[in-house]
Amino acid sequence: MITFEDIGSLAAAETLRVLRNECAGSMTRDTSQISAAQQREFYRTRIATGEISGFLMFDGPEPVAYGLLVWDEAGRAWSSTGVKASRRREGFGRIVTIENVRRAHAQGVAMWAEVRRDNAGQQKICRSIGYRTVETLDRDGVTIDVMRCDSLPGHA
Ligand SMILES: CC(C)(COP(=O)(O)OP(=O)(O)OC[C@H]1O[C@@H](n2cnc3c(N)ncnc32)[C@H](O)[C@@H]1OP(=O)(O)O)[C@@H](O)C(=O)NCCC(=O)NCCS
Repeated sequence: MITFEDIGSLAAAETLRVLRNECAGSMTRDTSQISAAQQREFYRTRIATGEISGFLMFDGPEPVAYGLLVWDEAGRAWSSTGVKASRRREGFGRIVTIENVRRAHAQGVAMWAEVRRDNAGQQKICRSIGYRTVETLDRDGVTIDVMRCDSLPGHA
């Protein structure tokens, strides 16, 4: 059974760190590996303050994916998601991406995302659930689509 758990403790933030580090190479901004000490600081200054909210997704007892809502100065919500490396291509990427969009829409805002053009899986997911590309940019030689999702298929 798939369940979601808000990240509201240091232990959950540590689980997030392990998952996120497996996804680092596909990130559009920070592709570094995050240390346990850095993550404790991240939890204290950004999650506990509400600047970033997040959840873990479980398949039974196993954490398999995460989603983060990152708010910018303009009040836009940016999506960050990832799936455990050993559990990809099982449909979890689509589920976690939709759940994150739902969480933004529940707060009355569009969901924004930056997706590498060469990230075939995430490109496919985003295009199939209602994201549209509003800008394409080059950052350090990497082509990135800036996308937004105003509504999910089947939702007003
Ligand atoms: C991108 C990512 C989330 C996809 O997760 P996933 O669990 O493998 O995705 P799904 O199983 O839900 O697959 C969704 C669709 O994408 C396709 N897909 C997934 N990975 C793919 C890949 N590497 N190449 C081509 N197609 C891919 C699947 O076949 C599926 O297609 P379908 O709808 O026709 O069946 C996962 O690879 C990941 O976590 N990558 C690292 C982090 C990341 O890229 N995060 C997003 C940053 S914007």
